[in-house]
Amino acid sequence: MSEIATLNLDGKSIQLPVTVGSENEKGIDISKLRAETGYITLDNGFGNTGACKSNITFIDGEKGILRYRGFSIEDLCENSSFVETAYLLIHDYLPSPDELAKFSALLTRYSMLHEDMRNFYSLFPRGAHPMNILGTMVNALSSFYPSVDANSMTDDIDVTAARLISKIRTIAAFSYKKSTGKPFVNPSRDASYCENFLNMMFWSPVNGYELDPEHVKAMNLLLILHADHEQNCSTSTVRLVGSSHANLYASISSGISALWGPLHGGANQAVLEMLERIYEEGGDIQKFIDMAKDKSNPFRLSGFGHRVYKNFDPRSKIIKDICRSILEKQAGQQPLLDIALRLEEAVLKDDYFASRKLYPNVDFYSGLIYKAMGFPVEMFTVLFAIGRMPGWIAHWKEMVNDPAARIGRPRQIYTGSTLRKYEPVSKR
Ligand code: SDX
Repeated sequence: MSEIATLNLDGKSIQLPVTVGSENEKGIDISKLRAETGYITLDNGFGNTGACKSNITFIDGEKGILRYRGFSIEDLCENSSFVETAYLLIHDYLPSPDELAKFSALLTRYSMLHEDMRNFYSLFPRGAHPMNILGTMVNALSSFYPSVDANSMTDDIDVTAARLISKIRTIAAFSYKKSTGKPFVNPSRDASYCENFLNMMFWSPVNGYELDPEHVKAMNLLLILHADHEQNCSTSTVRLVGSSHANLYASISSGISALWGPLHGGANQAVLEMLERIYEEGGDIQKFIDMAKDKSNPFRLSGFGHRVYKNFDPRSKIIKDICRSILEKQAGQQPLLDIALRLEEAVLKDDYFASRKLYPNVDFYSGLIYKAMGFPVEMFTVLFAIGRMPGWIAHWKEMVNDPAARIGRPRQIYTGSTLRKYEPVSKR
C-alpha cells in the first residue's frame, strides 16, 4: 500500500502521493498541488525540494555515503580510474575491456582543439581567469560542431562525451600556458588521461617535465572524487538550461559559470586564499574562527559546511589522506597544512560549528594538494570542472532522455507593489 500525504487547506483536505526511491528516500509529489488547491510551495534554496528522480548518484548526508551508480566512492577510488568512472556515470555500467579501450581511443582522438579555437586565447587579456576562458571556450564548441541538438548529441553520446571530457583538459592546460606566456603543449597519443593533462600543464621545451606517479595517482583520485554529486548547484544549472533543449555545450558552459562561485566550486580557491591569509596574519586561527561566528561579519570559513552532508563529507576524508602523502614530500607546504589541520581540529571542537553540523567539505584539503602539485590557485576550480564533466553529461543525458522531462520553470510568490497608475514625469 503506497503512502499518502494528507494536506488540510481552507477546510478542504487533499491527498498527495508519496514517491519512495530505491534507498527509501521519500518525496511528496506536489505536481497536482496548484491545480487542486491554487497554492504553491516555497523553499528558499530548494533545501527541501526534489527537482527530479535520478539513477546516477546517491548521497546519504547523515551517514556520509556517496555512491556513483551504486558503487561507493571508496570502492571506485580503490579500484577504478577517472576514465572508467566517467563511462560508468554516463552509461550506468562498468565498461568491458573493449568498451573501455574504445572510449579511451575517442578521448585521444578528440583531445586536440580546432586551430581557430587556439586563436581565441590571443584575444583574452593576460589576467583572464581560467574559469572565464573555460566557460567561453566550451560554449564556443557549439559553433565548431554546429550540428548539435539534444537528439544528435544523445545518439552519439560517447563521441559527445569524449569531445567534452577530453577537450576540457586541453582548454584548461592552454589557459594556464596563456597566463604564463609559455607555448601551448599539445596532447600526446601515448599518455593516459591524467598523464596527458599534467604534461600539457607543466612540460616546457627548456625544462621538460618528469611525471611523478604519485601526482598522476592523486590527479586520478581527485577527478573521481569530483565526478558527480547529484543535484548540486552547477548540475542543477546544467539540467535547467538543458531542459529548454539548449545543446549540451551551452548547458555545460552554464554549469561552469555556476561552479565558479566561491560558495560552490570556487571554494577550493577561497580555502587556499584563506589559509594563506591566516599564515600571513601570524597563524591566529582563533581570530578567523571568531570572525566566522560573528553574525555582523560576512566572513565564512571556506571549505566548511555542506547543504547535504551533516556528518562528514566522505570525499574530504579520502582527500585528507592524499594530502598528507603528497605534502610529506613538500616541506614548503607544511605551514599551510599545519594551519589547515589546526583549523579543522579547532572547528570540530567548537559548538558553534558542531551545532550547525559544519564539517570540512570536499574543498577544504583539495587546494593544498593542487598547490603542492604546482597548480596556481586560479586553476583550482578548473580542476573541479574537469572532474565534474562526466557528472554534468550524465545528468543532461538522463534529463533529455526522460519522457516525463519538462522545461524547468519554477513559480514564485509576488511581494512587490500592487496595481499603480502611471504618472507623467511633469507631475512627479
Ligand atoms: C561544494 O551541493 C553540493 O553538492 C556541492 C559540492 C559538489 O560536489 O557539487 O559538494 C561542492 O560546493 C562544497 C561547498 C563549498 N563551499 C564552501 O566551502 C563555502 C563555505 N560554506 C558555506 O558557504 C555553506 O556551508 C554552504 C554554501 C556550503 C552551504 O550553505 P547552506 O546549506 O545554505 O547553509 P546555511 O548558509 O543555511 O548555513 C547554516 C548555518 C548558518 O548559521 P545560522 O544562520 O544557522 O546561525 O551555518 C552557518 C550559517 O551562517 N554556516 C557557516 C558556514 N557555513 C554555514 N558559518 C561559518 N562558516 C561556514 N563555512
